[in-house]
Amino acid sequence: MTNFLVLGGTGRTGSLVAKNLRDRGLAARTAARHDADVVFDWDDPDTQRSALTGVDGVYLVAPVPRVRYAAQVSAFLDLAEAAGVRHVTYLSTYRAEQAPATTDFRAVERDLAARTAFTHTILQPGWVMQNFADQHVPIIDGVITVPGGTGAEAFVDAADIAAVAVETLVHPEDHAAARYTLTGPEALTFAQVAAIISEVTGSPVRYQDIDRAAWIGAVVATGFVPADYGVVLDWQTSTVESGNGSRPTDDVYKVTGRQPTDLAAFARRAFRAPQISDLGDFVALEPFFRIVEQGLAGLVDEGHYFDQLADDAVFEYVISVPGYPRQVVGREAVAGLYRGYGANFVLHSADELAVHHDREKSVVVLEYAVHGRVVATGNAYTNRFVSVVTIKDRKVTHWRDYLDPVAVFDALGWPV
Ligand SMILES: NC(=O)c1ccc[n+]([C@@H]2O[C@H](COP(=O)([O-])OP(=O)(O)OC[C@H]3O[C@@H](n4cnc5c(N)ncnc54)[C@H](OP(=O)(O)O)[C@@H]3O)[C@@H](O)[C@H]2O)c1
Repeated sequence: MTNFLVLGGTGRTGSLVAKNLRDRGLAARTAARHDADVVFDWDDPDTQRSALTGVDGVYLVAPVPRVRYAAQVSAFLDLAEAAGVRHVTYLSTYRAEQAPATTDFRAVERDLAARTAFTHTILQPGWVMQNFADQHVPIIDGVITVPGGTGAEAFVDAADIAAVAVETLVHPEDHAAARYTLTGPEALTFAQVAAIISEVTGSPVRYQDIDRAAWIGAVVATGFVPADYGVVLDWQTSTVESGNGSRPTDDVYKVTGRQPTDLAAFARRAFRAPQISDLGDFVALEPFFRIVEQGLAGLVDEGHYFDQLADDAVFEYVISVPGYPRQVVGREAVAGLYRGYGANFVLHSADELAVHHDREKSVVVLEYAVHGRVVATGNAYTNRFVSVVTIKDRKVTHWRDYLDPVAVFDALGWPV
């Protein structure tokens, strides 16, 4: 299998599934209504037909947050059959077989099981840890508010779900008709979750239980989910509170060969500011750091590139590539952005430096070229940059970047 369509491709698991597939050098298209490689709308079959062209593996995320979608998914699976898809991995939910009859988790599982034109794998994860880091179960003013009492849940990292999904997509023959129950390594109460996040962040976090109906009413009132989705919220929270929350399984380990992430490790990643101290994360960019060091020599304090940035430095990417932010503020955020560079490119040299210095305005214009290779393919990569750098008190306060997007497309593939 070489061509993958990742539904929910901008979501919590889908985005990671697509990235992991690409990191393996495979072609993966993200599909969603907004900001994805291909427009895919569950309510518009035309978008589905075109998204399926040339696809052999599909990561299936049903429309969320909805309760009734089985007919739409079934029609999509018909299109997938017609398009020659050979495997579908479906993101279901923990104990879907016990889901309320007014929801469609079970119906989609049954539909897949009845089809023979392609193989399938079903993933049944528990609550994802990411719920605490986004608007699902947000931590507001240091308080986690959700009905759960003293019930426990084996929260799972979306990255582990994605890792399992990728294995099933890449080796479908080993996972045909399999159903995996995906959890973290331990079942935790919400109070324990709060204590772990407190310890990792150094800021007090506590758990506040709440009446279930009041909580569901409040979630619906925010507009985050429609009123009929209350049945899912009720099922998920009452399952945990009644002591029937997910229990740890070893399915993540069985499929990926690595232990699932624990909540403390997730919290360090999700809630702590990125630590620039580990410069090992940035080795792929070394030639870039060296040529900038050369270009700014004498104008900024000595030290590593990141030490030369003001805490609130503003980075603008004026000519860039889709998916890259237009602006990033603060040296930690810049480091966060550059930390991912090595997944795509590794540089081996940089040259052709030209420095234009406007002393009155404290602006330096650097022109330079970088050379390296594409991680996924090993192909050569060269790009040219113009960086307009403003300096104040011997620190970089503003960085405006222009690159050749064609060079990036030639290296990584042209946007579809
Ligand atoms: N949250 C949990 O703890 C948990 C646990 C177990 C299982 N699950 C299941 O995991 C699945 C994903 O849920 P999630 O909350 O994690 O969401 P998510 O995958 O983070 O986000 C939803 C994705 O689907 C896309 N999408 C939504 N509506 C769409 C539509 N009408 N047409 C096309 N694409 C659409 C979104 O992009 P656009 O909006 O741009 O289209 C986005 O990419 C759900 O089936 C959920 O039941 C969740």
